[in-house]
Amino acid sequence: MMEYKHIHQRFGRREILSDVSIQLKPGELLLLSGENGAGKSTLLRVMAGLLKPDAGELIDETGRRLISRSRKLLLEQVMYLHQTPYLFEGSVRKNLQYAQQKEAEEKRLQVDQALEWVGLSHLASENAKTLSGGERQRVALARALLRRPRYLLLDEPTAHLDAESNAQIAQLLGELKLRTVSMLIASHEPGHLDRLVDVEYRLDRGHLTNKLKR
Ligand SMILES: Nc1ncnc2c1ncn2[C@@H]1O[C@H](COP(=O)(O)OP(=O)(O)OP(=O)(O)O)[C@@H](O)[C@H]1O
Ligand SMILES: [Mg+2]
Repeated sequence: MMEYKHIHQRFGRREILSDVSIQLKPGELLLLSGENGAGKSTLLRVMAGLLKPDAGELIDETGRRLISRSRKLLLEQVMYLHQTPYLFEGSVRKNLQYAQQKEAEEKRLQVDQALEWVGLSHLASENAKTLSGGERQRVALARALLRRPRYLLLDEPTAHLDAESNAQIAQLLGELKLRTVSMLIASHEPGHLDRLVDVEYRLDRGHLTNKLKR
């Protein structure tokens, strides 16, 4: 479990996160809603160690420390998936191999499995830059899977995707949940994820409220 406490973040005179506390538990999927500019991405970036907050603590099995001094730990354990995943020039397979630090043969096997898992084996040799939005999201999920994160933060993973792509992403998230990955999803249109969501949070004027528990 990863517990974040009393996060504060200001940009200039605006307090974007005001005493925000949140916990990531194994196999639990949290949904984070809030208006544009509410601070969802900011919170996710703090949680993943990509942005140092003005204040905040982190508690895990190994102890309690300041978030601002936990960059390395967070970068290793908590993965942030950007809304528009960055894929570089080169084949889909190359984009996945890059995430791996293994011997060649083992690497190839795992990349193949990951591609199969997201249903993109047939596109392995295509240039990643030419993929559609939904395909990109699935490549990004496969890439995340290869790094076997315990904690996965997804920033609007289904924005601009059609119903079928949404359903595919929802299914993949369900499988990750069964593997006890802990997930937090920032989303505007969470309808299709209903079945998977354990706790819904809302960010409003810096404050996080626990909307409902299912
Ligand atoms: N590095 C920064 N410097 C100054 N202001 C920032 C910075 N990052 C974010 N902000 C501001 O903080 C506010 C919250 O931004 P954030 O991206 O976290 O919102 P969001 O809830 O993710 O919005 P959206 O739904 O549009 O993705 C915005 O008003 C944004 O302009
Ligand atoms: Mg955002």
